Amino acid sequence: MAPETYRVEIAGVSKSFRAVQALKDVSLNVRPGEIHALVGENGAGKSTLMNILSGVLRKDSGTIRMDGSAVEIPDPRAGRQLGIGIIHQELALVPSLTVAENIFISRLSRRFGLVDWRGLNRRAGELLARTGFPEIDPRATVASLGVAYRQIVEIAKGLSENVRVLILDEPTSVLAPQEVESLFAALRILREQGVGLVYISHRLDEIFRIADRITVLKDGAVVRTVLPSEITPGDLIGLMIGRTLTAMFPSRGSRAGVEVLRVDALSRGGKVRDVSFVVRAGEIVGIAGLVGSGRTEILRTIFGADPKDSGTISVGGRRLRIHSPRDAVRNGIALVPESRKDHGVILSMSIRKNITLPSVGRMAGALGIIRQRKERSVAQTLAGRLRIKARNIDAEVADLSGGNQQKVVLAKWLGTDCRVLLLDEPTRGVDVGAKAELYSLIADLAGAGMAIVMVSSEMMEMIGLCDRVAVVSQGRIAGVLEGAAITEENIMRLAVRRSGCGGGG
Ligand SMILES: Nc1ncnc2c1ncn2[C@@H]1O[C@H](COP(=O)(O)OP(=O)(O)OP(=O)(O)O)[C@@H](O)[C@H]1O
Ligand SMILES: [Mg+2]
Repeated sequence: MAPETYRVEIAGVSKSFRAVQALKDVSLNVRPGEIHALVGENGAGKSTLMNILSGVLRKDSGTIRMDGSAVEIPDPRAGRQLGIGIIHQELALVPSLTVAENIFISRLSRRFGLVDWRGLNRRAGELLARTGFPEIDPRATVASLGVAYRQIVEIAKGLSENVRVLILDEPTSVLAPQEVESLFAALRILREQGVGLVYISHRLDEIFRIADRITVLKDGAVVRTVLPSEITPGDLIGLMIGRTLTAMFPSRGSRAGVEVLRVDALSRGGKVRDVSFVVRAGEIVGIAGLVGSGRTEILRTIFGADPKDSGTISVGGRRLRIHSPRDAVRNGIALVPESRKDHGVILSMSIRKNITLPSVGRMAGALGIIRQRKERSVAQTLAGRLRIKARNIDAEVADLSGGNQQKVVLAKWLGTDCRVLLLDEPTRGVDVGAKAELYSLIADLAGAGMAIVMVSSEMMEMIGLCDRVAVVSQGRIAGVLEGAAITEENIMRLAVRRSGCGGGG
């Protein structure tokens, strides 16, 4: 029998960034019409490997073959010409441009003279139809679309006319369950069309649902390629992190104490409408809802990042005047934001500086030297607990993998003394091992008397960690679930409820 011809065959690829060897002799193949999942801890080398395949980075050694012939991919343009599309970990659309302009942006910017807009819109329409979403208008601005549709536009952008390979680097990290379904429908259509797909995700439940094969990377090397049917999620985690996780979620004695945070009739624009809830010391309260339902806005308004129109916020029974995040921090409220790039970390600074930034006041000693030593030990402890993968804590955040940057944001705020901790998608992009560690850290903080509010799209987090879950729909709390009533079904039922109709029903 002749050897199988693969869509993509990566053989013996290595890559180093100065002292860091990100990939060691990696071999991997993708068949046409296959969804091949690539999994591994933060910093395992997943993005690096796919950036090499798409021409964003250059390999140090090794070969890449496509449909049997050896290829060189020195830049992204060469990758596109070979039919390799990539959707990066961070969305890269320009909101003020239209859908069609975004899809063809790399080709538009190099061209002078007249653009055939009608032709452009028609071709964009054809690519959108290929993804199974013909309802997206190529002439609409990207800003007018929800996150799920933006993701589809990214896919259409990745689909050049002759796409043979499509790489998706954590496409669902911002999506709610229903939106994940739409994305999967699009991926299945592409698979039927013979496209070879590489799918990177930290959400293992998704991997088991969509992947035909799974390759595990660890510390830059391939551990194994397996079929989903021949491995359990627990064993897959074992391959990824090199140890077994006994429990994903910590067991917590729920000893709710005195009232800490009280939010009363909070409103802002059309996004936050008459929101009221209470969090006691030691409690973890979840805020669930679809993308765009107003979850992030609720946290931002409490924190003073967005001004409120009406309503009150009290901490420890005292009504607060919060006009800015500084007011919030001064009153013991901390917010870990959703997007690390916008306001999470300073990429050009070291891990240590980033972690200790919010707490410098606390560490100020009589002698600068004492402060420095304390800074180091706090940063070291948190970096170790969250398993931040880096040379050492003086490494620049810009050089870390996506998930490790997220861990720095978390460490930064977990290191502060606050009474109220607001967490927005805290585990987004974080690998399973670190997730478990983070859950126990959050539980410890609650155990120490903090009041915690957590927004998350991951159902298991809501169910496994929260004492109560407020489900938001169109800016309003559609219902609050407690204890055994916190189920995926109940959360979804409330999340899709439209406010305004049905009144009390
Ligand atoms: N530009 C760079 N300079 C220096 N080191 C880098 C650079 N890009 C990546 N690295 C390092 O290479 C290793 C692999 O990073 P990569 O981004 O491929 O990980 P990943 O598997 O995609 O992780 P994540 O799940 O967090 O996205 C990490 O140790 C990272 O710090
Ligand atoms: Mg990555």
